[in-house]
Amino acid sequence: QQIKEFRKTLLDWYDEERRDLPWRQDHDPYHVWISEIMLQQTQVNTVIPYYTRFMKLFPTVSDLANADEAVLLKAWEGLGYYSRAKNLKRAAQQIMADYQGVFPETPEALEDLAGIGPYTAGAIASIAFNVPVPAVDGNAFRVFSRLMEIEADIAKPQTRKIFTDIIAKVIDPDRPGDFNQAIMDLGSSYMTAKNPDPEHSPVKAFDQAYLDGKELDFPVKSKK
Ligand code: ADE
Repeated sequence: QQIKEFRKTLLDWYDEERRDLPWRQDHDPYHVWISEIMLQQTQVNTVIPYYTRFMKLFPTVSDLANADEAVLLKAWEGLGYYSRAKNLKRAAQQIMADYQGVFPETPEALEDLAGIGPYTAGAIASIAFNVPVPAVDGNAFRVFSRLMEIEADIAKPQTRKIFTDIIAKVIDPDRPGDFNQAIMDLGSSYMTAKNPDPEHSPVKAFDQAYLDGKELDFPVKSKK
């Protein structure tokens, strides 16, 4: 029952307040994929113009598979981590060769593509294909550790599974993509790492760490 109230509160907020971002105009898996890769190490506001330019240069997965390497790397200039751009082209070639240009829909198949790990696979499957799977990135670690006072150490590799299992129970089965994106938006607005504003968060009634005055004690992360 509490889970249902949480989903409704979160999604009502997302419906009212969500940012209108260029990759949210449709649920095309190609659009979701490119945006998620760009957003991995780069802030939303920086990504927007890169994303728009990229879609003009390479409007489809087929265009990307045939991309001129120099043009591709030039389009990536400033985003850094050039391996991401090279993996994009390789994955586009895999999609053309193995799937006739049609994106696979399951997280397992998506993870077989170059540069796509568990987070990106979950994001594409949920946002583009409505598969009810979590997309566990730093935002999800931070938001759920606070909401539920989860003490697992996020520096440990096995902790991802703990969060994935918990979020799998909470995710809205009817709107998994919006649920995951709402968590990302919470993590970059009211529930940031350093200067959170849990007092004004739409889900403050569900935020156990806030209710206990311990917002900044989560997530737990050991130094190595
Ligand atoms: N950060 C990572 N993915 C995102 C998305 N789809 N929307 C907003 N912020 C994000």
